[in-house]
Amino acid sequence: MRILGVETEGPTVKTFTFKDRGCARAKPGQFLMLWIPGVDEIPLSILDAKEDGAVSVAVKKVGEATQALHNKKTGEIIGIRGPFGNSFTLKEGKILMVGGGTGTAPLLFLAKKSASKATKLVFVIGAKTKEELLFIDKLEETCSKNNLIATTEDGSYGIKGLATTPLESLLTKEKFDMIYTCGPEQMMRKVSDLAEKHEIALEASLERLMRCAIGLCGSCVVGKYRVCRDGPVFTASQLKEAKSEFGVSKRDFSGKRIPLG
Ligand SMILES: Cc1cc2nc3c(=O)[nH]c(=O)nc-3n(C[C@H](O)[C@H](O)[C@H](O)COP(=O)(O)OP(=O)(O)OC[C@H]3O[C@@H](n4cnc5c(N)ncnc54)[C@H](O)[C@@H]3O)c2cc1C
Ligand code: FES
Repeated sequence: MRILGVETEGPTVKTFTFKDRGCARAKPGQFLMLWIPGVDEIPLSILDAKEDGAVSVAVKKVGEATQALHNKKTGEIIGIRGPFGNSFTLKEGKILMVGGGTGTAPLLFLAKKSASKATKLVFVIGAKTKEELLFIDKLEETCSKNNLIATTEDGSYGIKGLATTPLESLLTKEKFDMIYTCGPEQMMRKVSDLAEKHEIALEASLERLMRCAIGLCGSCVVGKYRVCRDGPVFTASQLKEAKSEFGVSKRDFSGKRIPLG
């Protein structure tokens, strides 16, 4: 596929748009495998998928493949496989979304699809600094300004602290029907513990090392699940089954269990 557009979202994140008929039918939560010729193929959540075939992903520069992708310009060629995995379940009622870092990408896609169904949609977004808060304008458009709660670790925007900081008081004040979360796994583990305490249904989207993306290689296992085929979206009860690994450890490329960084 030819890259149709590149947008800078912050100091380390760029959005890439291309056309792909298969991925254009993706549902929020699904991911694709993006091949950077001569470098690597990496899993990325789908940020947006439009009827005209345009598909976007938001990519954080963290290593060799993501750096090589950040160097690419409009018109250059990449490879796309997908969409893969399951998706978030669209629910009606009062919805709470908690996103951290590039985990905001699939939740923004979900928020756009949920906005007409939800009676209320509150979005809590967290980042280290103001510059790293992603898609604030688009989220304000989708959820209304009053329902967007931003947190930054250095206090440069919104509430000082982690995305989980405002949750305890929010959940004590208001009853939600569903929580969706995506971001750093320790954050999702805290969100999941709070959802259990307040008896609210939850779905979380997990990341693991992925190679095949079709359930064959086993790189992405969490408990008895393969994140690429059984996930990446898991329910609270599935996460409970994988409690010894969820928010605790992942597997490296050799299959060894290592603590989550
Ligand atoms: C389902 C899913 C959705 C994702 N969505 C996004 C997204 O929307 N935006 C985004 O910026 N990132 C996303 N990621 C993470 C992204 O795949 C990694 O950041 C990327 O693969 C790093 O490659 P690298 O060569 O630049 O870094 P490397 O130097 O190779 O690795 C840096 C770190 O990235 C992770 N990583 C490396 N290779 C893989 C791999 N094949 N699969 C998974 N993780 C890997 C490891 O934790 C590693 O420590 C997602 C991962 C998964 C599994
Ligand atoms: S990435 Fe190969 S089984 Fe999931």
